[in-house]
Amino acid sequence: MNTTERRISTTALVIGTGGSGLRAAIELAEQGVDVLALGKRPRMDAHTSLAAGGINAALGTMDAEDSWQQHAADTIKESYFLANPHTAEIVAQGAAQGIADLERYGMAFAREDDGRISQRFFGAHTYRRTAFAGDYTGLEIQRSLVNRATQLDIPILDSVYVTRILTHDGAVFGAYGFDLTDGTPYLIHADAVILAAGGHNRIWRRTSSRRDENTGDSFRLAVEAGARLRDPELVQFHPSGILEPENAAGTLISEAARGEGGILRNALGERFMQNYDPERMELSTRDRVALAAYTEIKEGRGTEKGGVWLDVSHLPRETIMTRLPRVYQTMLELQMLDITAEPIEIAPTAHYSMGGVWVRPEDHSTEVDGLYAIGEASSGLHGANRLGGNSLIELLVFGRLVGRAAAAYSAGLEAQRRSHDAEAFARAEVADLLTADGHENVRAQQRAVRNTMTEHAGVVRDEEGLTAGLRELDEIEARAAQIGVHPDIAGFQDLAHAFDLKASLIAARATLEAARERRETRGCHNRSDYPDLDPTLQVNLVWSPKTGIVREEIPEVPAEIAALIAAQEVSTEGKLVE
Ligand code: FUM
Repeated sequence: MNTTERRISTTALVIGTGGSGLRAAIELAEQGVDVLALGKRPRMDAHTSLAAGGINAALGTMDAEDSWQQHAADTIKESYFLANPHTAEIVAQGAAQGIADLERYGMAFAREDDGRISQRFFGAHTYRRTAFAGDYTGLEIQRSLVNRATQLDIPILDSVYVTRILTHDGAVFGAYGFDLTDGTPYLIHADAVILAAGGHNRIWRRTSSRRDENTGDSFRLAVEAGARLRDPELVQFHPSGILEPENAAGTLISEAARGEGGILRNALGERFMQNYDPERMELSTRDRVALAAYTEIKEGRGTEKGGVWLDVSHLPRETIMTRLPRVYQTMLELQMLDITAEPIEIAPTAHYSMGGVWVRPEDHSTEVDGLYAIGEASSGLHGANRLGGNSLIELLVFGRLVGRAAAAYSAGLEAQRRSHDAEAFARAEVADLLTADGHENVRAQQRAVRNTMTEHAGVVRDEEGLTAGLRELDEIEARAAQIGVHPDIAGFQDLAHAFDLKASLIAARATLEAARERRETRGCHNRSDYPDLDPTLQVNLVWSPKTGIVREEIPEVPAEIAALIAAQEVSTEGKLVE
């Protein structure tokens, strides 16, 4: 291990090198501000590269009637009115600029013959507004952002794991971490810190996130710095994750498959969406399609392996090859299945943290001065049901705004106050874990967290299960205090896993406590013991370890947007078929 601490100073530090982190870093660099970005995996492999089906903007290239106001209205309505209306307006209004930025960075969007950007339907959008690059949209965005960051010479360290955000008197002054390869400790001083390290959906067993990503790092780093979490219980279960092989269970089959005309059937061959949303069928909202698939499986109409069928084999081969190439390749690689001929066996998979770090709508600042959160780490846009394609545009819009806000914050500082105590604490935390020689295995405890969340906080929840989940979490926490950490010649991954476990425990506790408090059924959050929507719970639930849950009012929807929503009332009728 290299024990010499590496010290770096920069103006803005970005934690996370996925789309939101890179977009913020680009904005800072374009403004002439020093920025350093840290990732825990190679930048081209950041989680954004997995995003598949598309990115939303009311460009009106296919449906000229579309407008940013309608995009905001769809977002708010389908959030079951838990989205912050101001956040939804900012994203919808800024979306065209986000797409223009990507074009400027060289993004290869799918286009119509006359050159217009193609846009397809995604579930619950009033118009075709999802732009795409086959079903490799995230990968193409990531490539474009990495290229632009390279042109701007933005320093990016691909193997630094951040263990703590450093604060003094309620303001950030940097972060602490270590190198995953040789263990070099890093002390980084910065005026502003932008947290762009994803969400917490890897704490479920079947998930569209890979090992060691979305383990709740952002939640832990923010909470330990003094920030709070909003609506951690609101986790989107995507309807279509694959079942096999076990080590890839949950891998996403893009909603684009349904957008292009894919059909869902149960094991009896019935097109079951007929019973849940006969109007929108497979293009219903994600929460409804996920619950429908869950219900079919739970009530015994699923396949032997516990899934339902998603069939695209009736689509022209050309459509599959040009618009769903990744689904085609993934199924061949993982199951040797040819989707042009056979249906795909799928079940709901934990996909996206719709809640996250509490931020202000206008600039995604937190309650800790100089700390910002963006992308899946943050909250405010999605409420209880995220529209597919909204996450990618959110990171473009807020990446830009947060980059500007962080630059302005730094410019306004007269001095950067630091704390030697905070630095010493961060140093000691790493040193203590490095010498931990207990008998409990970190991976086993991570598995235990995932089992608990899957058992008690999945698609359908109830009081008894959530309470049992919290009890189990107490036991896991006790075992986690007895772990052994054993970095070896291959690297310091074991140390990272130990921090990941800490993060997952915080994220799991916040999720279970908020899920228990939300005694209603709303969007993704299905309470079998409270099957109705409760108007008094049209609030955000804000959590911190000190305060527990605090209810937060949501601002009123502006009249112009409310008028567009008025015709389409959100109802939970027929939601809980169980
Ligand atoms: O299904 C998908 O392609 C996922 C898109 C999204 O989550 O936005």
